[in-house]
Amino acid sequence: MLTRIIEKRLSLHKRLTNQQQQNDALQSQFTQLQALANIGTTTCMVAHEINNLLTPLANFAALSLKNPDDKLLSEKALQKVVRNCGHASRIMESMLAVANGQTQEKQSTPLAALVENVFTCLCRDFAKDGITVNVQIPKDLTVLAIPVQLQQVLMNLILNARDAMLPRGGVLTIKACDTADAVQIELSDTGCGIEPANLEKIFQPFFTTKANRESPSQHSGSGLGLFFVKRVIDDHGGCVSVESKPAGGTTFKITLPKPLPEFLRSDSNVKLV
Ligand SMILES: Nc1ncnc2c1ncn2[C@@H]1O[C@H](COP(=O)(O)OP(=O)(O)OP(=O)(O)O)[C@@H](O)[C@H]1O
Ligand SMILES: [Mg+2]
Repeated sequence: MLTRIIEKRLSLHKRLTNQQQQNDALQSQFTQLQALANIGTTTCMVAHEINNLLTPLANFAALSLKNPDDKLLSEKALQKVVRNCGHASRIMESMLAVANGQTQEKQSTPLAALVENVFTCLCRDFAKDGITVNVQIPKDLTVLAIPVQLQQVLMNLILNARDAMLPRGGVLTIKACDTADAVQIELSDTGCGIEPANLEKIFQPFFTTKANRESPSQHSGSGLGLFFVKRVIDDHGGCVSVESKPAGGTTFKITLPKPLPEFLRSDSNVKLV
């Protein structure tokens, strides 16, 4: 009788150990698959951001080729190529670091200069599209951010606002202010607005209303811009929200936390008495 009980216990123990080994193997496979999925998303996002920088360059270069005698235009095009390429390689470095799990240092970043840089990278005169740009950012306002990532966040929001106002034109307003514990950035446009049913979907990857159904090869949106925006702002410990009405324009609000004062930081040497 006792022998049978012992045998049963041994067999149960063996089954449990096997089960445990299978669980461990599945867990490790799951972790590997998660890492692969992460690389996939990051690759899509890198491609998307590089494309944001290359598209205006291609347009500018084509314009310059059409006007070979315009030396000034050619020089300008080449300067833009050099600048945007440098920026593109910084984006790649920054995003690959994210994919490799490396933490990047946030820096105190002047916001007005960052916004100005976005418009320079876009190489496009918004006035030609009938869009008035109204920037209200105090010159000395800084945010704690990874500059190359925050610049791409702003670029995505500005490109979306432009798309929403074409072809009629409108007003794009970019404001920022400093509160006690955060910096708030607001981008408003007077464009087509967002349907209420779509509001909760816009931050999902690959959600776009810009797909060209008649000619899928020419579709203009991949639905990755806002997914990127949310991911970067979340990684910065901030939040992003949206208010919009169909035909009533759209406002995106970003809140970025300010660093804690030195005496409240856990790594601080300053002690309260
Ligand atoms: N300012 C805006 N006004 C109106 N609709 C907007 C605005 N911003 C975003 N949207 C809506 O949200 C959707 C998702 O935006 P998102 O930037 O993620 O992708 P996309 O612009 O379609 O493509 P892309 O990957 O090229 O950015 C858009 O297709 C559009 O329907
Ligand atoms: Mg977009």
